[in-house]
Amino acid sequence: MKKSMKTQFLLLVAALAVGCGAPKELPNGGIWPDDSGVHVNAHGGGILKQGDTYYWYGQFMIEGELGNTAQVGVSCYSSKDLLNWKNEGIALAVSEDPGSDIAKGSIIERPKVIYNARTGKYVMWFHLELLGNGYKSARCGIAVSDTPTGPFTYLRSMRPNAGHYALNATPYHKRNDNYPPAQRFTGGVLPSPIDQGNMNIHGRDMAGGQMSRDMNLFVDTDGSAYLIHASEENSTLHISRLTDDYLDTDSLYVRLFPGRFHEAPAMFKRGGKYYMITSDCTGWAPNAARSMCADEILGEWRELGNPCVGEDADLTFHGQSTYVLQVGEGDAARYIFMADRWTPENAIDGRYLWLPISFEGERPVIRWQDTFCGLK
Ligand code: DGJ
Repeated sequence: MKKSMKTQFLLLVAALAVGCGAPKELPNGGIWPDDSGVHVNAHGGGILKQGDTYYWYGQFMIEGELGNTAQVGVSCYSSKDLLNWKNEGIALAVSEDPGSDIAKGSIIERPKVIYNARTGKYVMWFHLELLGNGYKSARCGIAVSDTPTGPFTYLRSMRPNAGHYALNATPYHKRNDNYPPAQRFTGGVLPSPIDQGNMNIHGRDMAGGQMSRDMNLFVDTDGSAYLIHASEENSTLHISRLTDDYLDTDSLYVRLFPGRFHEAPAMFKRGGKYYMITSDCTGWAPNAARSMCADEILGEWRELGNPCVGEDADLTFHGQSTYVLQVGEGDAARYIFMADRWTPENAIDGRYLWLPISFEGERPVIRWQDTFCGLK
């Protein structure tokens, strides 16, 4: 049996061993069988709810380390109860043309889809690294579809906010030409926290656009949408407002926590306040999650600490944030923390942790649970 077929077969057998028929709960960190009994393949994912259906988009990963690169594309699953997932196939396929931005072997991570009521289009954004360029490209890819399951049409890639400084850029950032080129950061490992006096990455990238690696999308209650992305060599988070059609950034953006190095941002809104859960930057290896809160999305954000509590809380239960799903509205709203437990040596075998978020005052708190019980 070919190696990749073998892994698929083992994941299928494991899925069947978990139990046949409709699952009443899903084991956090275990096998999550789809409608054909195969482990769901939607890593670094996000959820879109349309009507009574939830759509789960994620990275379709294959076996081995190669699976960390985009060999297939972005997958889509649908469910009405968050437990029984129908495989809807590949929503965005990689291109066989090596010259394409989304060539097979490029890196496509953390795809997210939002629906634009003005245009009637489903809009997908993802972190894109061009073929053969490691993680240096740090671009956003954008694709659209008339239907939630696709196929999505790839539009373009870019670095956000080219030609514009952040709303909270300082005079120092705007003096990009006024300090010796030798002091400009040109790559390699950054010290943390960054010596802001020597490394004006924000100014460096103003003309060509700001770097964008780990990212997420958030649609506010007024329909405005935002890109949240790890920028400035991952040292600083940016929140960028999108244009009305959700196909671009509109140049209004802020820099958050300069030199603090956040990845994996996941935003949600509760009681009129904005929250984020993020991670530290340690590659595929788990680290302690972080949480933060703001009264205005482009305003002042304050850190609230590690939201995880209990055994392995300092490692986010061996996972990393990817999305926070709100279920229900107003006082009845509940929030589900979605995380990936990566297995970079065999990417296809990554697992999912979906854990409820509770609140102590304004602070989000996440405790381990063996199973995810869906909408209950
Ligand atoms: C951590 C990020 O959160 C992942 O999405 C991925 O980019 C890995 N780093 C790659 O090492």
